[in-house]
Amino acid sequence: MVATPEAIEEAADLLRAGELVGFPTETVYGLGADAANAGAVARIFAAKGRPSDHPVIVHLGSAAQIDDWARAVPPAARRLARHFWPGPLTMILPRGAGVPDAVTGGQPGVGLRVPAHPVAQRLLGAFGGGVAAPSANRFGRVSPTTALHVASELGNAVSLILDGGACDVGIESTIVDFTSAGGRAVLLRPGGVDAAALADALGYPPLPPAGDAPRASGTLAAHYAPTTPTLLVPAADIEPAIAQATAAGRTIGMLAVAPGAPVPGLRLWLAGGEDPSVYAHFLYRHLRTLDAARVDLILIEQPPESPAWMAVNDRLQRATHRDEEMLP
Ligand code: TXA
Ligand code: MG
Repeated sequence: MVATPEAIEEAADLLRAGELVGFPTETVYGLGADAANAGAVARIFAAKGRPSDHPVIVHLGSAAQIDDWARAVPPAARRLARHFWPGPLTMILPRGAGVPDAVTGGQPGVGLRVPAHPVAQRLLGAFGGGVAAPSANRFGRVSPTTALHVASELGNAVSLILDGGACDVGIESTIVDFTSAGGRAVLLRPGGVDAAALADALGYPPLPPAGDAPRASGTLAAHYAPTTPTLLVPAADIEPAIAQATAAGRTIGMLAVAPGAPVPGLRLWLAGGEDPSVYAHFLYRHLRTLDAARVDLILIEQPPESPAWMAVNDRLQRATHRDEEMLP
């Protein structure tokens, strides 16, 4: 429903009653529950079909609440909070006493984020506490960037969905972990805040994740995936890939980078755009459109492999990982 002041109050009441609420953030829509209520958090896992040992991010209205959920917060984390909150950054910090195991998946850290979306801000302000929320999609699927996406995928499980329009960033938050490298920042998931901006604020580039980094479903190799077989293909290999699939009688949908003349022979052709933030904004919407087109194969043209495209390329690799073995 439209996020009127009455709807926000109703959503906050539902959270207090242990129910699930869908709400917009500037990255993607979240499926929220009272983070202090283990029973309410358990309902998130049931609704998503997500394994119960996966941790969820706790969303806070303000950085001032950081010490309610975390302890021994390193100065560098406070610096990132000042720079990037409210915004598309999640930090994994040593969990505070009393944080339910249901939230952390039993891990030593708790994920915290202060989202910037005005509807999220109003909801968190009205509720007062922390809201545990993963992206509001079925486990392993494409994250929702509109209220309609949430309703179509999780409608029955959610008591209320606050509609705040299409998400601005379009892909999930950047996740920085402070619990695994002696207090140094580790980039677990690239996202809305880019690595160069993090390096500026930290004074050093964030470290790459080690093999034993905390488990994060958004860091599984296959994730964010359409149901249609989907391949990530270098620009130079697109034509042969189309020829091969067409010869095999398969229908094709394609996500190109640059707008311009559509590639002939395709059932559906979309362009993501040459600006990585514009591409990110439309990425999940495009993947849903291609998935709904009932083609046999989705081809995604590989964007440039430069740092500015890191978060987009990460999501594209995960969206296509399952189907890699189909490559010629
Ligand atoms: O932009 C976003 O981050 C969105 C919006 C709704 O805030 N949320 C989101 O949540 O993408 P989710 O659960 O789909 O992905 C969050 C990732 C998961 O891979 C989870 O495993 C990881 O963050 N994570 C959360 N808490 C963690 C913790 N305590 N330790 C390690 N990883 C954690
Ligand atoms: Mg997710």
